[in-house]
Amino acid sequence: MVDVILGLQWGDEGKGKIVDYFAKDYDLVARFQGGPNAGHTLYLGSENKKIVLHQIPSGVFHQGAVNLIGNGVVLDPVTLKKEADTVAAFGVDLKKNLFIAERTHLILPTHRALDKAAELSKGNEKIGSTLKGIGPAYMDKTGRNGLRVGDLLHKNFTTSYIKLRLKHQKLIDNYNFNEDITVWEEEFFEAIEFLKTLNIVNGEYFINEKLAAGKKVLAEGAQGSMLDIDFGTFPFVTSSNTISAAVCNGLGVAPQKISEVIGVSKAYCTRVGGGPFPTELDNETGEQLRKTGSEFGATTGRPRRCGWMDLVALQYACMLNGVTQIVMTKADVLDSFEALSICTAYSINGKKTMQVPFQMMHAAIEPLYQSFEGWKTDSSLIKEASGLPSAMKTYIDFINKNLSAKVHYISNGPGRDQIIKI
Ligand code: GDP
Ligand code: IMO
Ligand code: MG
Repeated sequence: MVDVILGLQWGDEGKGKIVDYFAKDYDLVARFQGGPNAGHTLYLGSENKKIVLHQIPSGVFHQGAVNLIGNGVVLDPVTLKKEADTVAAFGVDLKKNLFIAERTHLILPTHRALDKAAELSKGNEKIGSTLKGIGPAYMDKTGRNGLRVGDLLHKNFTTSYIKLRLKHQKLIDNYNFNEDITVWEEEFFEAIEFLKTLNIVNGEYFINEKLAAGKKVLAEGAQGSMLDIDFGTFPFVTSSNTISAAVCNGLGVAPQKISEVIGVSKAYCTRVGGGPFPTELDNETGEQLRKTGSEFGATTGRPRRCGWMDLVALQYACMLNGVTQIVMTKADVLDSFEALSICTAYSINGKKTMQVPFQMMHAAIEPLYQSFEGWKTDSSLIKEASGLPSAMKTYIDFINKNLSAKVHYISNGPGRDQIIKI
């Protein structure tokens, strides 16, 4: 069976840490969507060394599992090559434990330039993209122009590349945008030589043969449900489907194969980039969350916007994903707060609703809150559920009562062992 770990909010919920925690129980860990816009943070070894993964699945540090970059991902060979060097320092040899689906679309240097040009043209309405070329690469996939990893192995690749590059250049010129991509192109061609030395496979047969042999697969999501291209806060979203349904077309597995859907949510909310965020705290409390939680983007270093837990958005994500268990991360970040709030409903034009509206941007959403006492205890050293402060238990019980799935784990620090099963 395939279990899934994915984000229930606006990304950066701590998926990387949670995938690394669960990976020991799986034979294969597979990314099914997104690209190097993702930044998944892991702490490894006795020295707790920090590592941020953008393209490689977070199961890569477990000897017992192999990893797959699925066809639903968009892959930047340059990022992959850099990451290969980073993980090699930890003794990981990607030639042994990484497999790449041949149908995976490539991010070209001109996709990155196009991303910049498109974002710049939006002026005040810019998305806040990570500018990694994600949108343009997915546009070339659905526009039936893109180049795929499997194409690298054919001798006419360079000709196809030049043809697509010319198409892109016309678009870039239309934007009146100029970017010298000479260095990016040099890096790209160097990186594809490296990529060709890795295990390029037919992903759908690879994964289904594993499943047929009774192997356990863990699918790792990137971004979060509120950034989903269909169900997120459009147009302030990413360019892929981020929900559990995307596992099927991002890996080539049938829906009946999906078993557990483990949703990761912070104990509060964050968002990086533009777009609606009903519970955002543009004040000292938000600043306290940002400081205590070190809320700065793992990919771009940008400060993350912070706010209270939003049960309307979280229940929406539970519904869309069919979440069977929730992992609540960063509970320790709330340790020092005197009082906490949870949004239980929205008031839109004076009408109370528990539903996420069509156009969050244009609706004047007033979050309705329930207040909670803070626990004012250092929770980061707690190892057992029985040791959790009672105010935290009240907080979790309330969340459980209001969602279709329950909190099964609490993460109480960034470290590998800072996780408590409830
Ligand atoms: P991802 O994109 O979902 O993998 O999340 P990121 O790595 O972008 O951001 C999560 C951040 O929170 C990282 O810096 C993690 O090391 C950190 N983190 C994860 N879980 C916890 C936790 O329970 N407590 C604290 N304090 N930090 C955590
Ligand atoms: P992980 O996997 C948080 C956001 C960007 C921007 C919008 C579109 O680490 O949780 P894109 O680069 O896709 O064109 O950006 O989506 N975004 C993320 N925010 N975590 C991520 O990934 C994100 N990936 C994209 O900030 O607002
Ligand atoms: Mg991240």
